[in-house]
Amino acid sequence: MRDIDSQVLATIVETASDHFFIVDGDGRVLDVSPGAAAVYGMSREALCRSTVQALEAKGILKPSVSLEVMRTGEPAQLMQQTATGRRVIAQAHPVYIAGKLKRVVSRSMDLTDLQLLQDEYALLQQRFSDHLKRSSGGSIGDDLELDSLEVRSGVMREIAVLLKRVAPTDATVLLLGESGVGKTAFARQLHRWSRRGDGPFIDVNCASIPESLFESEMFGYQPGAFSGATRHGRAGLLEQADGGTLFLDEIGELPLAMQTKLLKVIQDGSLTRLGDTRPRRVDFRLVVATNQDLARRVEEGGFRLDLYYRVNVIPVTLPPLRERREDIPVLAELQLARLNQRYGGNKLLHAGLWSQLMARGWPGNVRELENTLERAWLSSPGDLIEPEVGQQRFAAGQEPGILVSDRSSAAPTLGNTLLPEGQTLKQAMAAMERDILASLCREHPSTYAMARRLGISQPSVVRKLSKHGLTIHNER
Ligand SMILES: Nc1ncnc2c1ncn2[C@@H]1O[C@H](COP(=O)(O)OP(=O)(O)OP(=O)(O)O)[C@@H](O)[C@H]1O
Ligand SMILES: [Mg+2]
Repeated sequence: MRDIDSQVLATIVETASDHFFIVDGDGRVLDVSPGAAAVYGMSREALCRSTVQALEAKGILKPSVSLEVMRTGEPAQLMQQTATGRRVIAQAHPVYIAGKLKRVVSRSMDLTDLQLLQDEYALLQQRFSDHLKRSSGGSIGDDLELDSLEVRSGVMREIAVLLKRVAPTDATVLLLGESGVGKTAFARQLHRWSRRGDGPFIDVNCASIPESLFESEMFGYQPGAFSGATRHGRAGLLEQADGGTLFLDEIGELPLAMQTKLLKVIQDGSLTRLGDTRPRRVDFRLVVATNQDLARRVEEGGFRLDLYYRVNVIPVTLPPLRERREDIPVLAELQLARLNQRYGGNKLLHAGLWSQLMARGWPGNVRELENTLERAWLSSPGDLIEPEVGQQRFAAGQEPGILVSDRSSAAPTLGNTLLPEGQTLKQAMAAMERDILASLCREHPSTYAMARRLGISQPSVVRKLSKHGLTIHNER
């Protein structure tokens, strides 16, 4: 190798924040970067006198990623445990000359601190949830100050309380959940709750930017960086998020090359526009969302393990609407109020439609509920959204086999409305009981008041509420 090239290589090994190991085809260590000593608990000189076989046998590092490459002849990536008790991601690549394995170059990144943070967070989350269950008696999160979001179910209230707790920190939040459950809505709320709330909220849908434009969109460019670049250059989305929140929606769709570049920005806190040489500092809070199984994407090689660890700091799963039906009435009321405001009117939903709303599967979650109500609102002529209109409209957006309540094409009769096709009497009675209780929960200050109104005992009220997963918000 020419002198200059070996100097360049030495500079990379000396200065990189990751730890490099360079070994020959037999596993003899030729060089390591200075920082490796602290991670592996051995001096650089001692490491350089050793072999990866010996290091693995002594438990200095386990397993050795270089040995894995020597065994398979392919690049490898794995998690290592070191003798100093640290957890490390190691990646290694083979170097062949004339078909013979001559070198293995591996690089490792210490994740211990990140891992500790995650473990601590999981523990806190558990304690916090236990504490809420013990102390709240059903009034979790009364002081949430949610803007334009409704959470009534216990699970959503707990999630909202947690998000509010972590909002002031700069920790990365990963929002998981099916389409339409509210990932984007809660990312915005998190931003408003954070100390960056007055700064920008930059919402980037990773699935909608063509791969060829990704780099210029994300990093921006200098004048003349490429043909078609504007005369003044442009700040990219990462730079626009400075001082605020960067929300990367559908992060599972981020191309691999961009994942590498994004990781570097997260690590360095700076970026360089296309066609520029000067790095610029950027300071944003990262929030990401996906409805993919990211761990699976890592296994399939579509998502970088190190980026996965960076974004999976605080994972929060928003459950589908069908698993938190207590939220349906408040969400429906919120949407009705919005529609009345948007289109000018004062329409109400016919009582017979509520049980249908409660019974549907809602595969499209809150978004589907909103769209369904909008269609029903627009097609009902009077002030009351009637079952006939509602049924047709509700049915129009239905996916086959998911709707349990209104598959009937027969003319609506009282019987059809109260006992939708496909439901047994018992199910319909339970749904009705639930609707009544849910509505009384909102209107009554205590289970005693509800007991008087219902003409049953207070313990019966408590039992029934618990059976339906309902609570009196703010019991006095
Ligand atoms: N708790 C809530 N209260 C009020 N509105 C909500 C709530 N959750 C979701 N919504 C509304 O439902 C719609 C869908 O939510 P959102 O766009 O946040 O879902 P998403 O999970 O980001 O979906 P996708 O995966 O398709 O991006 C939005 O109009 C949002 O405002
Ligand atoms: Mg979204």
